[in-house]
Amino acid sequence: MSEPISQPGVAAIKHGGGQPSAWVQRHAGGLMAGSSVLDLACGRGRHARWLADRGCHVTAADRDPAALAAIDAHPGVTPCALDLESGDAWPWPDASFDAIVVTNYLHRPSFDRLAALLCPGGLLIYETFMLGNAAFGKPSNPNFLLMPGELLERTREAFTVLAFEQGEIARPAPAMVQRICARKGEAPGRLPE
Ligand SMILES: C[S@@+](CC[C@H](N)C(=O)[O-])C[C@H]1O[C@@H](n2cnc3c(N)ncnc32)[C@H](O)[C@@H]1O
Repeated sequence: MSEPISQPGVAAIKHGGGQPSAWVQRHAGGLMAGSSVLDLACGRGRHARWLADRGCHVTAADRDPAALAAIDAHPGVTPCALDLESGDAWPWPDASFDAIVVTNYLHRPSFDRLAALLCPGGLLIYETFMLGNAAFGKPSNPNFLLMPGELLERTREAFTVLAFEQGEIARPAPAMVQRICARKGEAPGRLPE
């Protein structure tokens, strides 16, 4: 997603600084130490750092070298400088990760690659802005906003949905968001506490 984010508060996490999202904390909190996790378009790595501090082995990918520099020395995080939208193959084999975290980033053509990168039973935790966010600021370009129910639609074939929400939030700033936690495959598995 290349359109800048203008909301106060959300600007604090524009490049991945700030506190980890409550949605990510809730749904990634049950990952076991040693799990391999991809933080896609990680920015300054608020989720990569949080996951690594819990014992996960995190690959943190972003095209912004300055953002990656912020996590370069963090134990448990492997930064990966990469333009995810270049059309080139991504550098990870299929079934590389136990979980993938994507927040505040949307590139629809890449979506199908996410299922392939997950191990069977792997978790997809996705949270980003949706249609209606223009009322609060940027992103306002529909190219960077999910349609209503879009994450459900995009996970329908390869995933079992564990949790889904869409609507207006007040914190860290007013926004319209959509979020999902889905497990690759047909078995629902264990819900977070
Ligand atoms: C709004 S920030 C979100 C950062 C982080 N996921 C978070 O929520 O804290 C969007 C990130 O997407 C990255 N990004 C945008 N387009 C990209 C691309 N084509 N390839 C890789 N990263 C990209 C930006 O560099 C930026 O760090």
